[in-house]
Amino acid sequence: MEELKGVSWPPEPIRTERLLLREPEARDRGTFVELLASPEVHTYLGGPRPRAELERELPAVPERRTGSFVAELDGAMIGLILLRRATGHSRPAAADKTDLGYLFLPRAWGSGYGYEACSAALGWLAEALPGEPVVLTTQSANAPSMRLAAKLGFTEVERFEAWGAQQWLGLRSAVPPAG
Ligand SMILES: CC(C)(COP(=O)(O)OP(=O)(O)OC[C@H]1O[C@@H](n2cnc3c(N)ncnc32)[C@H](O)[C@@H]1OP(=O)(O)O)[C@@H](O)C(=O)NCCC(=O)NCCS
Repeated sequence: MEELKGVSWPPEPIRTERLLLREPEARDRGTFVELLASPEVHTYLGGPRPRAELERELPAVPERRTGSFVAELDGAMIGLILLRRATGHSRPAAADKTDLGYLFLPRAWGSGYGYEACSAALGWLAEALPGEPVVLTTQSANAPSMRLAAKLGFTEVERFEAWGAQQWLGLRSAVPPAG
């Protein structure tokens, strides 16, 4: 995965009904550690990283890259949205396309925040890179992620085996289907 190019970054923070999407800041570091060390968050993502390693190795402002949005609720980070270029993706249908990833703290699940934040980030992308299709890879066993992908308008391209599990590759075309 590589950073998105050809877009103006960072954008003005994006307000949704309940959330704020913005670039990462130093005050988010503790939440990044929590997110990346959480076994629950990483059930379908190949396992968490050790907390001590994260404390040691994360930069002062983690993930400060074009296309990386922190989702903030009531002044505090609750999740991360990643829009990246899928350079070198093993599946030809996804290679070099824009890729969406999302991770939220378990205490923020079940409230529609993932959908709200991803919709806003995809809206930003549609303006920043008009006509850009977006791909998404998730384990097919990751039911909440599969539901979120469907709600966001991703449709199945294929399923494939990788990292010891079945993966689902979805595509969201820039032009919404009629009806
Ligand atoms: C994937 C992930 C973001 C989904 O979170 P989520 O909260 O289930 O997703 P949504 O934002 O779509 O919220 C949907 C849930 O909120 C509920 N909800 C409550 N209030 C709501 C509202 N106002 N609007 C919409 N949904 C609402 C829905 O009923 C639904 O619950 P259900 O799944 O029990 O039916 C979360 O599970 C996660 O961070 N997982 C770990 C990281 C990961 O696996 N990422 C995938 C790899 S890219």
